[in-house]
Amino acid sequence: MDFIKKITRRSFIKKAIFTLVSLELIYVLTNLLKKGNEAKAPENLFNAGEVDLFENGQVYPFSTERFYLSRLKDGGFLALSTKCTHLGCTIQFKTKEDKFQCPCHASAFNKHGDVLAPPAIRALDLFPVSIVDNKVLVDTANPVKRNKYDRSQITYA
Ligand code: FES
Repeated sequence: MDFIKKITRRSFIKKAIFTLVSLELIYVLTNLLKKGNEAKAPENLFNAGEVDLFENGQVYPFSTERFYLSRLKDGGFLALSTKCTHLGCTIQFKTKEDKFQCPCHASAFNKHGDVLAPPAIRALDLFPVSIVDNKVLVDTANPVKRNKYDRSQITYA
């Protein structure tokens, strides 16, 4: 009888250990799968809105995200950083003059972000734009430095 109790206890402990290890494995695998999905999800992309909200040739401020969304005359999109490339002041879009101006030392930039007036010598930084399900998504976590505007920087719907 004592022998049976020992076997039962051993068997119980083995099953308990097996169960714990199995649960741990399931937990680890579940977390790995979650992390894999998170990496694919565009968490860092800011949803600026539906493509049709933005008129061609217009500039739209997203102050809290620190960029201007410039929809060019041909329908392409550029997301321009609000940070002046001279010393980092916040630029402003002047609708009447149709250009960006820096209040600190008067640098000016066009709708592509190219320098119109110094002392800035480099185009405004870009935030990568992607269009998914007709939504304009902006990667505000990864500004791209550039010297000049280039057509390859435009994103089309
Ligand atoms: S910081 Fe913009 S012109 Fe100097």
